[in-house]
Amino acid sequence: MVKVEKSFVQNMFSVENKVAVVTGATGALGRVLAKAYGYAGAKVFMTARNEAKLAELEKEFKAEGIDCAYFVADPADEKAVQFMVKACVEKYGEVNILAVCHGYNKPQPILEQSVEDWQKIMDADCKSVYIVLKYVAQQMVDQGKGGKMVVVTSQRSKRGMAGYTGYCTSKGGADLMVSSLACELSAKYAINVNSLCPTVFRSELTEWMFDPESAVYQNFLKREPIGRLAEPSDFVGYALFLSSDASNYITGANCDCSGGYLTC
Ligand SMILES: NC(=O)c1ccc[n+]([C@@H]2O[C@H](COP(=O)([O-])OP(=O)(O)OC[C@H]3O[C@@H](n4cnc5c(N)ncnc54)[C@H](OP(=O)(O)O)[C@@H]3O)[C@@H](O)[C@H]2O)c1
Repeated sequence: MVKVEKSFVQNMFSVENKVAVVTGATGALGRVLAKAYGYAGAKVFMTARNEAKLAELEKEFKAEGIDCAYFVADPADEKAVQFMVKACVEKYGEVNILAVCHGYNKPQPILEQSVEDWQKIMDADCKSVYIVLKYVAQQMVDQGKGGKMVVVTSQRSKRGMAGYTGYCTSKGGADLMVSSLACELSAKYAINVNSLCPTVFRSELTEWMFDPESAVYQNFLKREPIGRLAEPSDFVGYALFLSSDASNYITGANCDCSGGYLTC
């Protein structure tokens, strides 16, 4: 007897009617994942610090029939994050999915970097992740029906780079945070916690790397078996997978989505 449920297989990638909180929703990846959750039938609760951009996204998404709302919050501000989670629950009743898409970097050699500049990166990429995971986890535990957390970190979480003592350290910390929280939250509360680790994808900050004639692009290609750098939309499938029942047995994973960067 082959044991697999037909209805499970037919619905396992669904996030329909789930409530998805997306941080960094104003960024290149955050806005794409937020819209993708919406297209997939989830209710989307967007957060970031820039209200004008959030309002624009809300207008755009609503025009496409996406059920969405936003709340302005700095993810490193504990009180603001508490209010953000509360606002989501007031609006949609619960939180089922969290996608952490905010981030910041200011590359600098350690000899030229102030401790304050380093701390700013650590706050934006590590402390803020802790705060968001903490309060969303609390909400999911209170709801008592599990949840899915997807934290976007970076391939830089696993390897160093000159000028990246803040970024690599904070992303490495976030990846270990994900694995540790899986140990705390998965068996007891059915909350899956995973990270996505991309290499370079197109954003306002990285657009300059995408000139195919440039040495930077050509150097990247030597390490990208897939033959190109990524677009934010390349991560939609992985994010939906990690947010749906299809990934119920995956937790604590730092998922490679680098176009094969690790293989050569
Ligand atoms: N782009 C890449 O090549 C690449 C590669 C690997 C990993 N990543 C990671 O993937 C995630 C998304 O990247 P992206 O390229 O989509 O980013 P992005 O376009 O630069 O947007 C960054 C997002 O984070 C928020 N943000 C910026 N500075 C912040 C700070 N100091 N504190 C809190 N929030 C801040 C911004 O929103 P507000 O200013 O409105 O708050 C925005 O929503 C980040 O974690 C990034 O580190 C990016």
